[in-house]
Amino acid sequence: MIKLAPSILSADFARLGEQVQEAVAAGADRIHIDVMDGHFVPNITIGPLVVTAVRKVTKIMLETHLMIIPPETYIDAFADAGSDLIIIHEESTPHLHRAIQMVKNKGKLAGVTINPATPLNRLEEILEYVDLVLLMTVNPGFGNQEFIPTMIKKIQHLAEIKKKNRLNFEIEVDGGVNEKTIQSIIKAGAEVLVAGAAVFSAPEGIQAAMNKLSRLAYETTLKSV
Ligand code: DX5
Ligand code: ZN
Repeated sequence: MIKLAPSILSADFARLGEQVQEAVAAGADRIHIDVMDGHFVPNITIGPLVVTAVRKVTKIMLETHLMIIPPETYIDAFADAGSDLIIIHEESTPHLHRAIQMVKNKGKLAGVTINPATPLNRLEEILEYVDLVLLMTVNPGFGNQEFIPTMIKKIQHLAEIKKKNRLNFEIEVDGGVNEKTIQSIIKAGAEVLVAGAAVFSAPEGIQAAMNKLSRLAYETTLKSV
């Protein structure tokens, strides 16, 4: 089953609790939280306090996508705030293995991610240590950007590597997931899909948007069996 992770980057922050609960009621598998520092990416968003606040309104998995340098400084704070899974950018630290171990030492799931222009082989030595690999399919920093079409091949390639080496990490995709792109992303091998604008900015509302994405995901997996 494909998992959906609505990203609160596109939520109404004045009604964040309500919006998260609506996404959970609509079938979200986890909530994706984008942390940006104005250095690693040209935008500033969320700190540990917001994770603490979101943690109070739902029991489902919270995944925290750290777009900050250096990530090590804040791993403990985001873990203590209630993140279940912490995702580190390969480009954000020269000591990726240590950063991943820091997440695990806090008893949390550890994920790694790369920007669109970073080749997959940069992850070769870390794949067996992570619970999830997130492929960025837009340049990180903002919601509601267009999916970069050449990323389909990258997803396929990661799925092949996973199969060939019998690895256990989940394959997640972040950026430009919507009703137009979702089918090719799933066919390429993605297992967890982040969706910000397609859920929280949908004119039809969160529930209807989630229903539509879940239905498309379900139909695509049926067809590919
Ligand atoms: C971008 C973030 C994404 C963002 C995705 O830097 O990492 O999680 O919320 O937004 P959409 O789904 O609108 O492309
Ligand atoms: Zn993200």
